[in-house]
Amino acid sequence: METPILEMRDISKSFNGIKVLDNVGFELRKGEVHALMGGNGAGKSTLMKILTGVYSLDSGKIVIDGAEAQIRAPKDAEKHGVSMIFQEFSLVPSLTVAQNIFLEREPRTKLGMIDDKACVRRTRQLLEELDVDIKPDDLVADLGVGYWQMTEIAKALSKETKLLIMDEPSSSLTKRETEILFDFIGRLKRKGISIIYISHRMEEIFQICDRITIMGDGKHIVTAAVNELDMDSVIRHIAGKNLDKFEWKERNGIAKEDVILEVRGLQTNNRVNGVDFELHQGEILGIAGLMGSGRTETMRALFGIDPIIEGEVHIRGRQASIRSPQDAIGYGLALVPEDRRVQGLVLEHEVRDNILLPSISKVTSVLVNDKKGDRVAEEWVAKLNIKTDSIYKESRLLSGGNQQKIVFAKWLANNPDIIMLDEPTIGIDIRAKTEIIEMVRSLADEGKSILLVSSEMTELLAVSDRILVFHDGKAVKQFMRKDISSEEELQHAIQGF
Ligand SMILES: Nc1ncnc2c1ncn2[C@@H]1O[C@H](COP(=O)(O)OP(=O)(O)OP(=O)(O)O)[C@@H](O)[C@H]1O
Ligand SMILES: [Mg+2]
Repeated sequence: METPILEMRDISKSFNGIKVLDNVGFELRKGEVHALMGGNGAGKSTLMKILTGVYSLDSGKIVIDGAEAQIRAPKDAEKHGVSMIFQEFSLVPSLTVAQNIFLEREPRTKLGMIDDKACVRRTRQLLEELDVDIKPDDLVADLGVGYWQMTEIAKALSKETKLLIMDEPSSSLTKRETEILFDFIGRLKRKGISIIYISHRMEEIFQICDRITIMGDGKHIVTAAVNELDMDSVIRHIAGKNLDKFEWKERNGIAKEDVILEVRGLQTNNRVNGVDFELHQGEILGIAGLMGSGRTETMRALFGIDPIIEGEVHIRGRQASIRSPQDAIGYGLALVPEDRRVQGLVLEHEVRDNILLPSISKVTSVLVNDKKGDRVAEEWVAKLNIKTDSIYKESRLLSGGNQQKIVFAKWLANNPDIIMLDEPTIGIDIRAKTEIIEMVRSLADEGKSILLVSSEMTELLAVSDRILVFHDGKAVKQFMRKDISSEEELQHAIQGF
């Protein structure tokens, strides 16, 4: 048998005396796509950060191409041809796509100056190869998260890579973009590049991976070929139990006639081009569409982030004037944003303070009143199963998925009437995902009104009462959920413009 390109043997790692990796190991073959799976906080990202020299290991061994490798810093990993696309983006928003891709490795002219033209030219090639419609000169700050991910991928590919680690690369990509990514992974594989692929999306794993390693609580649980495992057994290994499939079911509550939110001719300078819709009390309104169709941007406008330049918003029958998130919160709105790390959290704050943050204006006493605040924070940590050693832990030290959950808790703790969720289960493990879907249902049953943007068809179809399709900054079609017979039908409606 061929020598594996990588062996991680008996890796252990503790932070402040708490063991997060406990004798974990696995092997990677040349040209293999190997899935790394496990619940939020299982230790996947930490293991990969050890491989890329971001963290040092306490004990264990890394063997690359048959020889022990000393990886003490990111440059050591780079020397071995290891690149990683991080779950937390590492882009600089104020720079262009090309500048980000070649940051600190800029091509130079003979005189030693940065060769901008070469930078742009090589970036254009990479983007064409990836088939993404962004330009080398686009400012990263102006692009949606999905495009950031593509930029990260282009960046990794611009290096001499023989082992590429992707930490949830598809989480903010829509179906079409994911297909492009998979196509690309196939090409890398044929070139002999090995890939470690971290994802919580079950279907993807079975579509593109050769083998799966599952971790749980810092330990190795199982490694097997995909054809030796079925989806149910993978779910059992990860969640520790069987879970219900995401299926649409009748809700206990039904949407009332009352229109709680009415949007007419909404326009902004950011992709929103005359959006019209109504949201009823107790309704779950799903929003489908391609990347760039204006879904996220509509929510940003309604939440007072992007200025509304045209159109009207009525809340509970009265015209509303929303010029800031503060105004929006005042009208009972909440937004769980898509790029939660950037917009949703103060990473330096403790878990507790992030959860209580938006409630400050309402119940100033909560923050002052330590005991009550602690209780609320503890309650949400338990409810959403947030993995943290304490509510006083700094949020940036939590795993990606657990940070996502804090943002959720933060908005729900504020008890809003109208809840806007942008890709709510991105990066969330299968068990918590099921819990969040259930929670969305029961919030609506209680009479809360919900706008849900999601690129996951199964998710949209599982919870929506009604689905709007966005295209080019407008709501162009709507369906009652009960009239949609298959995922393909909805997919077709989204793509059919
Ligand atoms: N620098 C750090 N200091 C303290 N604890 C940390 C640090 N980095 C990670 N941890 C802890 O290690 C555990 C594993 O985190 P890790 O990010 O590896 O999980 P993960 O498997 O990638 O989860 P997710 O699916 O949510 O991304 C978590 O409990 C996290 O809080
Ligand atoms: Mg992670």
